[in-house]
Amino acid sequence: MEDLTSIKEDLLRDLESAKDLQALAEIKAKYLGKKGLISSLFKRIREIPPEERKSFGQKVNSLKEEAEKLIRERERSIKEQQLQEKLKSEWEDLSLPYDRSLGHLHPITQTLRRIIEIFRSMGFQVEEGPEIELEDYNFDKLNVPKDHPARDMQDTFYVNREGYLLRTHTSPVQIRTLLKGELPVYMVAPGKVYRRDDDPTHSPMFHQVEGLAVDREISFRHMKFVIESFLKEFFEKDLPVRLRSSYFPFTEPSAEVDIGCVICGGKGCRVCKDTGWLEVMGCGMVHPKVLENCGIDSELYQGFAFGMGVERLAMLLYRIDNIKLFYENNLRFLEQF
Ligand code: PHE
Repeated sequence: MEDLTSIKEDLLRDLESAKDLQALAEIKAKYLGKKGLISSLFKRIREIPPEERKSFGQKVNSLKEEAEKLIRERERSIKEQQLQEKLKSEWEDLSLPYDRSLGHLHPITQTLRRIIEIFRSMGFQVEEGPEIELEDYNFDKLNVPKDHPARDMQDTFYVNREGYLLRTHTSPVQIRTLLKGELPVYMVAPGKVYRRDDDPTHSPMFHQVEGLAVDREISFRHMKFVIESFLKEFFEKDLPVRLRSSYFPFTEPSAEVDIGCVICGGKGCRVCKDTGWLEVMGCGMVHPKVLENCGIDSELYQGFAFGMGVERLAMLLYRIDNIKLFYENNLRFLEQF
C-alpha cells in the first residue's frame, strides 16, 4: 500500500517536470509500460495474502486508471502550451499595407484591340478562324500554287495529319467568311499565325490582322482610303503613306504599304534602313479566282484585302527593337504599358 502512494507521488512529480511530449512518452513507459512500475504491481499480487488480494487489485486498478488520466491531462496541457507558443511566434499583422496594383492587358492584346476598334468604327466586323487550318484554305483556295515556296517545309509548320497545317497567315479566314455566302462582307480577322522564322524581328508565332471587303463596285481607291485612314488613326499622326507594287497570289493587283518612318521622320535611320520608309502591310484587290473558289460571281463582286503584323505595328508604335520582349513576360518590360 505504501508503494502505491509513493508511486503516485513520483508520478505527479515526474509529470510536473515533463516539458514536452517526448518526456511524457518516457514517463508513460516508466509507469504503464509492460515492465512499468504499475504493471509490475499486478505481478506482485501473488505475494499478497489471499483475503487482501481483491482490495489490492482494485487499488492497483484505480491507480492505473488515475495514472492514465493524469498523463492524458498533462499531454493536453503540453499541446496547448505548444500551440500558444506557436501562435505567438507565427503571428502575422494582417493590417500591414499590401501591394494593391492590378495587372493589365498585354501590349500585343492592347495593340490588337486598338487595331480592331479602328476598323470596327469603319463598319468592319470581327471574324475568327482556327490556328490549325486546312491546307486547302491556307493555300489552295487562296490561289497559292502547289509549288509555291511558302508551302515549303522551311516556311510552314505542318501537323501530323494530311491536309492540315498551322496557318501561316490570317488569310484563310477570308475563305471561311466568303464560303458562308453572306454578301457583302466587311471583316477583320485577328489572330495567331505560325512560320518557321526566328530572329530579332521575327518569331515562329506572331499575330496578324486580316481585312477583307467584298461588295459590288469596290475599287482600289476604297482600299487606299481605308488603309490610310487606319494608319493615321493608329499612329495618331498625319503620316505619309505610299503603296508600292508587289505580288501576292490571292490579290491582283497587289501592293505593299509603306509609311514614313515613325522613328526618324523620314530622314533615314537604322529602323528604316536609311530609306525613310517602313513597310507595314500587304494588300490588294481580291483575285477573281479566290472569289470563284468560294462560289462568288467575280463579274458582280469585287473586293480588297489587306494583312498586317501586329507585333510589327506594336514595335513601331512603342519603339521596341526586339520582338522577343513580347513573349518573355518580364514584368519590368510589361509594366511600362
Ligand atoms: N497574307 C499576306 C501575308 O501574310 C498579307 C496579305 C493579306 C496580303 C491580304 C494581301 C492581302 O503576308
